[in-house]
Amino acid sequence: MAAVPADLKSVVSSLTSKRKHVPHWYLYDTRGSEIFEEIVRASSTYKHWNHEHTLIQEHMKDIVGNMPSSTMPVELGSGASSKTRPVIEALLERQGELTYVPVDIATDYIQEISRELEREYNALTVEPFGGLFMDGLRHVASRSEPKLLLFLGNSFANVPIDEQLPMMKEIRARLKVQDRFLLGLDMNTDREAVIRAYRTGFTRCPWLDNFIDRLNKDFEADMNKMAFENTVNFVENPADGDTPSYVQQYLRSSTNQRVHLRKLDVTIDFLAGERLYLAEGQNYSCKYSEHQVRRLAELSNFAVEGFWVNEEAKYCVVCLVPNGK
Ligand SMILES: C[S@@+](CC[C@H](N)C(=O)[O-])C[C@H]1O[C@@H](n2cnc3c(N)ncnc32)[C@H](O)[C@@H]1O
Repeated sequence: MAAVPADLKSVVSSLTSKRKHVPHWYLYDTRGSEIFEEIVRASSTYKHWNHEHTLIQEHMKDIVGNMPSSTMPVELGSGASSKTRPVIEALLERQGELTYVPVDIATDYIQEISRELEREYNALTVEPFGGLFMDGLRHVASRSEPKLLLFLGNSFANVPIDEQLPMMKEIRARLKVQDRFLLGLDMNTDREAVIRAYRTGFTRCPWLDNFIDRLNKDFEADMNKMAFENTVNFVENPADGDTPSYVQQYLRSSTNQRVHLRKLDVTIDFLAGERLYLAEGQNYSCKYSEHQVRRLAELSNFAVEGFWVNEEAKYCVVCLVPNGK
């Protein structure tokens, strides 16, 4: 695999593994990130962008009010940073100047967003980190500034379910008691609404088309968009149990077909009906009950300082404080 950059090697291993899949982060190159932002902001039925944005604005005083001065916001999976802007503004107003560290796998995209933010806010310094979530957190962990760690847009829910608690525990271990962790999670378990939001049926989904374009470009491949169908399941789990409900999303091969990755001289055979999952784990995205969020916090040694839900209890923003060891 010499011709493939190191970060793409895991994509090939995933595609050729027994359970064919791509790492979820591979859906977010610059174009994928732009399309994602357009889709979530435009949705008039599944409004989780609006819910989260409103909750952050409504509870801004509670979020930043208890933070020490010289707080440094660090954001995992920052994307367009569109819901972080009100936080940046509130901290700037209070502190006068601010350093913000967005962490995201879509390196080129967040560099562009960082330049935009710096142009917009004179007293803001942005230090983007292009890479995986936890590498970004490790990168800033030793910094002395009090941190407001943000993990918004239900991005945490794309982490494989069995890796979520270990990830929370590592986050806790890397924060100090003065820090805060703001987590935005989707609570919408209305089956029809969820499936409608994630499925575009036979009409083309520009975001998934972009993923296939990326794959064809990165690996000089010949994957045919029209020969795969976007398919969505919703797996419901009891709200009082510890396992969240989740969306499972995959492309289903409509025929027996062979995809060539010419750059590597690798072929991948798909049987009619075979699935190509769009995430490492079973869950493409999770939907949580309040019990499940509180349980995750408790098991990873965080106290819940704020738990804010929108009117219809479809989305929550949670402010967590590290418990003393
Ligand atoms: C669901 S989007 C959320 C974007 C933004 N925070 C929001 O709320 O609209 C997830 C973001 O996480 C990034 N991402 C996905 N997996 C990642 C990973 N393992 N490490 C770092 N970034 C990742 C994507 O590039 C994308 O920008």
